[in-house]
Amino acid sequence: MHVAMIGAGYVGLVSGACFADFGHEVCCVDKDPAKIEALNRGEIPIFEPGLAELVAKNVREGRLTFTTDLGQAVRSAESVFIAVGTPSRRGDGHADLSYVYQAARDIAAAIDGYTVIVTKSTVPVGTGDEVERIIREARPDADFAVVSNPEFLREGAAIDDFKRPDRIVIGTDDERAKMVMNEIYRPLYLNQSPVLAMSRRTAELTKYAANAFLATKITFINEIADLCEHVGANVQDVARGIGLDNRIGSKFLHAGPGYGGSCFPKDTLALIKTAQDHEAPIRLVETVAAVNSQRKRAMGRKVIAACGGSVRGKTIAVLGLTFKPNTDDMRDAPSLDVITALQDAGARVKAYDPEGMKAARSMLTDVTYTTDAYDCARGADALVLVTEWDTFRALDLRRLKAALASPVVVDLRNVYRPDEMRRHGFTYVSIGRP
Ligand SMILES: NC(=O)c1ccc[n+]([C@@H]2O[C@H](COP(=O)([O-])OP(=O)(O)OC[C@H]3O[C@@H](n4cnc5c(N)ncnc54)[C@H](O)[C@@H]3O)[C@@H](O)[C@H]2O)c1
Repeated sequence: MHVAMIGAGYVGLVSGACFADFGHEVCCVDKDPAKIEALNRGEIPIFEPGLAELVAKNVREGRLTFTTDLGQAVRSAESVFIAVGTPSRRGDGHADLSYVYQAARDIAAAIDGYTVIVTKSTVPVGTGDEVERIIREARPDADFAVVSNPEFLREGAAIDDFKRPDRIVIGTDDERAKMVMNEIYRPLYLNQSPVLAMSRRTAELTKYAANAFLATKITFINEIADLCEHVGANVQDVARGIGLDNRIGSKFLHAGPGYGGSCFPKDTLALIKTAQDHEAPIRLVETVAAVNSQRKRAMGRKVIAACGGSVRGKTIAVLGLTFKPNTDDMRDAPSLDVITALQDAGARVKAYDPEGMKAARSMLTDVTYTTDAYDCARGADALVLVTEWDTFRALDLRRLKAALASPVVVDLRNVYRPDEMRRHGFTYVSIGRP
């Protein structure tokens, strides 16, 4: 099977490399020449565990190539995946579909023979209809089908998620396209990954419903954590107490600084907009999005309170910048809101992140970047743990205390035990725990 993957970002590059590893011939296309040049030099433009090795292996074995020439890649492909970005549109929060539609126009110009066009990007209900219309209008002669195949991988565990998915969703009514999709994913049928066939619109909505549900679960436990703080209860025990109920499940019940990242914030917003447009508003998700966006800045206030009510002129050390561990992705990371809130209140901020500092430099101003956790802590009036990288999970507490000018730790991920931190002489604040 010849596959063209349009967009070589977090989703396109992982999907392309995994399809190649299944044995398909994959050409990854990106309009960013710097990205393609880097890939052709053997460099991986993003940080994703295991990706460098997987790409190198499949390039070496001749199944994975990279180009900026979309036409060439599409002409020889039986299936073309669209994996371009769908960020929030500035101003109104709808999904910005301009990259998807541009890709559709570019694909239309190059289709040669029966081609299955697959939207892997997260797109609002009805986008597949519009992609089909764009291509049909440009190429009335073309033989093609448009399928929705939303992606559920998580950054940081993307390869494993792609190769061992909880499910594969395929949205199409076109029997020929179904056969092509089955062929592409055949290696996963052997792993018995459930394949769910449904209509294209249903598949598109399924992706948003999944992300909105997960965002709701996180927000729910975050609000329970806030209540715990007021009534002297422990949110981790509550989470365990409800999570062992199979109807609830224990995942996504970790209280923290609010969800961020490249998907949940923009996808909840886009779902809200779609629902409003169709006069079926989803008030629950509207509330989740509002609660979450306020929460991130509120975390800055939590740090200020831990510092005695003012951080003016103080130095705050921030550990972890990316929206979660094991990625370099800084999009909508809670650290951005926390740091800005601290700077607005007059603090100087030092930061350390194993992979996120390069991206952070272009998104934050006046932050001093450091070389490790202890360097970050040195001379600071408080330390804030924002992202729970493994390297922050077992810090040498004596060394940390000695490095800090004042032993205040605000742990927004509940990594440490309150009793242990207090025994070591820290003023320790975490989320939803006495
Ligand atoms: N990142 C995730 O964890 C994740 C998970 C599931 C789904 N998704 C969805 O997948 C889509 C892609 O997300 P991402 O994080 O990989 O984005 P990304 O920004 O990392 O990558 C998108 C890439 O597409 C390229 N591009 C844009 N227009 C193009 C065009 N016309 N031709 C060729 N290349 C083009 C860009 O240069 C960029 O490299 C989004 O819709 C997102 O919501 C993302």
